[in-house]
Amino acid sequence: MSGGDTGRVGADGRASGTPPGRPLVGRVAERAILAGCLRSTLDGQRQVVLVAGEPGAGKTRLAEETVDQARELGLACAVGRASEDEGSPPYWPFLQVFRGLPGRPTAELYDGLAGSARERFRLFEVTAEALVAAAQPSGLLVVLDDLQWADAATVRLLVHLAIGVTPARLMVVATYRDTETAGQGPLRAAVAALTRETSVTRIRLGGLGEAEVAAHLAAVTDSVAAAIWRRTRGNPFFVGELGRLLVSSTDGRLPDGVRDAVRDRLNRLSPSCRTVVAAAAVLGSEVDPVAVAHVTRTDVEAVLAALDEASVAAILTGAPARRFAHDLFREAARLDVPTPDRLALHRRMAEHLSARGDGDARVAEISFHWLRLGGGGLALPAGARRRRHARRDRRAGPVPAAAGHGAGTGADLRPRQLPA
Ligand SMILES: Nc1ncnc2c1ncn2[C@@H]1O[C@H](COP(=O)(O)OP(=O)(O)O)[C@@H](O)[C@H]1O
Ligand SMILES: [Mg+2]
Repeated sequence: MSGGDTGRVGADGRASGTPPGRPLVGRVAERAILAGCLRSTLDGQRQVVLVAGEPGAGKTRLAEETVDQARELGLACAVGRASEDEGSPPYWPFLQVFRGLPGRPTAELYDGLAGSARERFRLFEVTAEALVAAAQPSGLLVVLDDLQWADAATVRLLVHLAIGVTPARLMVVATYRDTETAGQGPLRAAVAALTRETSVTRIRLGGLGEAEVAAHLAAVTDSVAAAIWRRTRGNPFFVGELGRLLVSSTDGRLPDGVRDAVRDRLNRLSPSCRTVVAAAAVLGSEVDPVAVAHVTRTDVEAVLAALDEASVAAILTGAPARRFAHDLFREAARLDVPTPDRLALHRRMAEHLSARGDGDARVAEISFHWLRLGGGGLALPAGARRRRHARRDRRAGPVPAAAGHGAGTGADLRPRQLPA
């Protein structure tokens, strides 16, 4: 299981990554949609809900919440999850679903992947009939989690279920990451086909709002306070010391789990895209394709293609002006660039901006990049340092002591005294 994934679904359909008792925050509109779909299901109209979002957005959690709601309404529930492991058998999510249901088709049936199209159709029909039968008395909710990893046959079977015309108290909630870029052809095609179906509802989970973040954090800090109380029994000195430790332990560093999850997202990009994203991360939170092309010595078309890939993966957002979707992505990408490369990128960026016609308007930006070089006056090639000194010596009048203050052209902005 990759670092970006946030939990496994156990036999009870609950992902083990969900701490017990922590309340679901927000998602009011999405839960109302799902409640409406459950009602329609009980009225005999089959429903398919596609829940998309980035890793950690809460797709599994929302599905679990729907399972709880469905159970309260008396529906049977069955959960299957696609596996990232290449060895998982075809139709794996459905095989898991049938484990928990009476009157299931035999698992051997699903070995017939190599069979003809006709045999496959028969298999789909047998599956649909079995699910419709299982839904017969009181309704059935099937959750198919992490469909971004499902085999093409599983995805086709889902489409088959969605377009079935037999009335059935059957609802399928299928979750998938819409941020994966590799091997997603069958799923994309299926989502496009399903969008035309009236029985299909699509939900995209974005980030929580600010107030919802506060509510989510309150739940986290409550449990932190409880844990500190248990360990200290309220001794004010120990409480203070442990509190300080908590603050300092995340100071300026990403927690390992966050860093791993973010790295996992970055590692799924193609190598050329990673290079462009890393350079963009060093240069700023907004991405200037021409500048990135210059500093990475790549042509602009290749940079634009890489930026498209990063946008599909939701690492970047906005068009045509692109920026990092989260600061976390930018921080993680930047931290993975070795220091000499980082300095070289800043130097090339400063030179690129200085050489542009609008250097005067970019005073702050240019000085930002020179300042990033910090003690790296040494990082400048000797030739560049000599040219810089020569230019400085030719200049009349005082040079701004701190770059970024006072007027001047871009070329004037290099700090004279680079701190050690
Ligand atoms: N709306 C929410 N309120 C509170 N916690 C949430 C919410 N959405 C997700 N979480 C928590 O965030 C973590 C990641 O959610 P998860 O459903 O596993 O994400 P995904 O399946 O999209 O990768 C889990 O611990 C989950 O319980
Ligand atoms: Mg999940």
